[in-house]
Amino acid sequence: MKLCVIGTGYVGLTTGACLAAIGHEVVGTDSEAAKIAALKRGQLPIFEERLPEVVAAGVAAGRLTFTSDARAAIAAAETIFICVGTPPDADGKANLAAVEAAARQIAACAQGYRLVVGKSTVPVHTGDQLKRVLATQSHGRLEFDVASNPEFLREGSGVYDFFHPDRIVTGSDSERAAKRLRAIYAPVLEGAFTCGWHRQPAAMCGWKPPAWVATGITSAELIKHASNSFLSMKISYANAIADICELADADAGEVLHGLGLDRRIGSDFLRPGIGFGGFCFPKDLSAFIEMSAELGYDFRLLREVQRVNTRRTEQFVRKVREALWVLPGKTLGVLGLAFKAGTDDIRLSPALKVVRELVRLGARVRAYDPQAMERARAELGGSIHYCGQAEEVADGADAVLILTEWPQFRRVDWAGMRARMSHPLVLDGRNLFVPGELEGQGLEYHGIGRRAPRRAAAPLAA
Ligand code: UDX
Repeated sequence: MKLCVIGTGYVGLTTGACLAAIGHEVVGTDSEAAKIAALKRGQLPIFEERLPEVVAAGVAAGRLTFTSDARAAIAAAETIFICVGTPPDADGKANLAAVEAAARQIAACAQGYRLVVGKSTVPVHTGDQLKRVLATQSHGRLEFDVASNPEFLREGSGVYDFFHPDRIVTGSDSERAAKRLRAIYAPVLEGAFTCGWHRQPAAMCGWKPPAWVATGITSAELIKHASNSFLSMKISYANAIADICELADADAGEVLHGLGLDRRIGSDFLRPGIGFGGFCFPKDLSAFIEMSAELGYDFRLLREVQRVNTRRTEQFVRKVREALWVLPGKTLGVLGLAFKAGTDDIRLSPALKVVRELVRLGARVRAYDPQAMERARAELGGSIHYCGQAEEVADGADAVLILTEWPQFRRVDWAGMRARMSHPLVLDGRNLFVPGELEGQGLEYHGIGRRAPRRAAAPLAA
């Protein structure tokens, strides 16, 4: 099928490239001409595992192209996916200017029948607004259906998530739209693809048929908000439990493990730490709270989720201050700047929030991140020292802080780091280690909600 993807950010580029990988002809377009020019040169604007290979394969097969001529891309496509950004406004509501602009563009240059699919995370009833714009602006030239097809792609593993989704949600109110969406996703539903993540046929990489969830448009829009808010709530819950563990002298690792084994709860998204960040959870949460208020529901539960999350970074900074007392003149080694592992994205990163606050309080920060250095430099400028490798952050450090859960930080030379530090203290904001692991290297270690390991009882003297 001929598809057009408007917006080539994390969602649009990943979705478009993967749709090409399952056999469709996809044209990606973006209002940022420089982004399209770079994509045409084979340069991706984001770091996303396996995506460069999937894009290159699509381009080489002639099924994936990029153009800044949105009109031509829209005119030639049967189905148009709107994947533009919906950044938060000052009041927390999603800014829908780019969604409206995309709809106007479609109305201005498409003729005949088109299926217009909203993928951007939007407030409930955006589908109705899209219909209104398409109807009023196309002056009868356009016959259309609108559908909502929320994305659940995680940054860093978006390619994996496309090929191995738990469910595919499509909301529409016409049989024609529902049928077409099912046909578009048929290869993923039937396992008839070569996985872009594993580079193997579906049958060989653990593919399981995803649930096909066909709903009305409004329900589909709500499923996305309800899912992201629930996951945020789970993280804040885990963080609250970790706080209680610290107060009660219990171990959050043990408690959350025991909790998550209940299949009704599940062990995913129960990792305590310095809180959730990124461009989805925080903004989707405030958008959902605002949207619920507009509908007449005061979502206090979610406001508390937000409050718990905001306090995470503050509490961590307080821990650093308690451990080091006076911050001016102290050197802190920081491992991790991205909002989570596997991405170069620093938008609303809790790690960056901690770093900014420590700098404000007078500490000298030496930082390293496997992917986010360039973006962090653009954001933090000369306020911190940027290191070429992980071990360098330890030079003269009064403490090393782990702020992003990159698994490779487990494998750095911690004994060597210890030798470079002026004080052997590690404060782990992501519980990357369990208590007892680093102490063997001569380091004092503190995680989140953790208790020192229980010593094995000494053998009784004969
Ligand atoms: C999220 C959703 O998972 C995805 O389905 C949606 O479409 C987009 O938003 P993403 O923002 O890429 O994806 O990140 P995710 O992996 O969900 O993590 C979000 C944040 O929560 C990160 O800062 C991460 O470090 C934090 N987190 C996650 C925790 O603190 N604890 C956990 O147990 C899990």
